[in-house]
Amino acid sequence: MQLARCAAAGIRRVEATSGYGAAMTVRYKWRGAFSSDELNALHAAAFGTRVFTDEEWDWVDLTAKHSLGWVVARDEHRLVGFVNVVWDGLVHAWIQDTMVDPRDHHRGVGRQLVADAVAASRAAGCEWLHVDFDDDLRSFYFDACGFTPTNAGLIALQQ
Ligand SMILES: CC(C)(COP(=O)(O)OP(=O)(O)OC[C@H]1O[C@@H](n2cnc3c(N)ncnc32)[C@H](O)[C@@H]1OP(=O)(O)O)[C@@H](O)C(=O)NCCC(=O)NCCS
Repeated sequence: MQLARCAAAGIRRVEATSGYGAAMTVRYKWRGAFSSDELNALHAAAFGTRVFTDEEWDWVDLTAKHSLGWVVARDEHRLVGFVNVVWDGLVHAWIQDTMVDPRDHHRGVGRQLVADAVAASRAAGCEWLHVDFDDDLRSFYFDACGFTPTNAGLIALQQ
């Protein structure tokens, strides 16, 4: 029921200027379609990692099993941004892997991805949306996206 309500959130279009210098219309879709292949390419570009294979990182399967939803941003067919929203199944949701193609940074794509994730998590009945990040992204999450500071903790389990 909750997921059906979120899926009905629809597509939002926002005009911007692309990294190629041309005007672009970015379309944002909650639980929009994507392939693991294109998401692994976007992840590598955004985070500066190697490109993982679909066998190593099957985004489609993982998000289907573990996410409340996700937001896909496209300029025509090109994937320009993505954010994943995992949850506890009821009250808490967490932002993971906010990523925007470096050619499209500072055009408001990241802010809109998170805004749509906030709206969809609220519509699903969640009460809290969490995120953690490095110091250099304080301006993005606090000032641009509206998160407030809180105490949080982290353990690096594989080190
Ligand atoms: C962080 C990220 C998603 C932001 O995407 P974006 O589309 O460029 O962000 P926006 O254009 O919506 O930025 C809105 C405002 O947030 C702030 N902001 C954005 N990126 C920032 C950054 N890297 N550092 C500090 N502030 C930032 C700025 O104030 C910006 O306004 P401005 O463009 O007028 O300067 C993008 O830089 C990215 O993909 N980074 C690599 C992956 C990553 O680290 N993801 C976060 C994991 S927690």
